[in-house]
Amino acid sequence: MVEKIEHMEMCGITKHFPGVLSNNKVDIQLKTGEVLAILGENGAGKTTLMNILYGLYQPDAGKILLNGKTVKINSPSEAIAFGIGMVHQHFMLVPTLTVCENVILGLSKKFLVDLKMAAKRIRKITETYGLAINPDAYVWQLSVGEQQRVEIIKALYRGANLLILDEPTAVLTPQESNELILLLKNMSKLGNSIILISHKLNEVMAVSDRVTVLRDGEVCADVETRETSQEELAKLMVGREMAPCRRKASFPQVRLS
Ligand SMILES: Nc1ncnc2c1ncn2[C@@H]1O[C@H](COP(=O)(O)OP(=O)(O)OP(=O)(O)O)[C@@H](O)[C@H]1O
Ligand SMILES: [Mg+2]
Repeated sequence: MVEKIEHMEMCGITKHFPGVLSNNKVDIQLKTGEVLAILGENGAGKTTLMNILYGLYQPDAGKILLNGKTVKINSPSEAIAFGIGMVHQHFMLVPTLTVCENVILGLSKKFLVDLKMAAKRIRKITETYGLAINPDAYVWQLSVGEQQRVEIIKALYRGANLLILDEPTAVLTPQESNELILLLKNMSKLGNSIILISHKLNEVMAVSDRVTVLRDGEVCADVETRETSQEELAKLMVGREMAPCRRKASFPQVRLS
């Protein structure tokens, strides 16, 4: 039975890769209905932190608490079982299948899935959140923005109420980005929690309630969006010349998808 995530906390998360301290004692918190932006330059450790929350990596130290209870998230399927969904920058959809088929793909081995029932549930989700998508459309027919919505629907269909989006607007047109921002706001109003990774300050200001800024793997600020500005965030993100937390070496980034 999935309990709704009212409060999520990552405490003292540390993660090393060979030669790189990717996350160093990182603390973040998120309440239900909140949009948290994780802001930081390339290589600051944003994706690593979210991959840990999604069960793709195990931290070297630190813990994750859901509703005050320490949990161990060993895999993405365990993350999903806890109600955590993640939309990666690179979509994982099968173009020759329909929206509906993509959404239910891999969900049930035991039962013959009733496509009509699934389409009905998908329609309910799309109506609730104002996600305009036809469940019978083939994925190859969809725009990039629509494909991203299918990924969001996939997460919601699996019961996600905390949704992580890793630089979702990087692949979108300005118009699609605006639509996504409205969608995220709407989703948070309806009681979902959202974590948005971004390095676009205007987006962060437009959509988030709070901003955690990562620099060289460490949290260098955690601020209420209404109490900050793009200028302040830019300074926090880049830091001063004498930034205290420099890494010794940098390795080529390995992407998972
Ligand atoms: N699987 C891995 N193996 C080795 N090093 C890694 C791995 N994943 C990340 N790193 C390193 O950890 C550091 C943080 O990377 P991460 O991808 O978390 O940063 P990011 O803030 O998401 O950056 P970007 O904005 O470029 O996506 C980088 O130096 C990166 O090279
Ligand atoms: Mg990243």
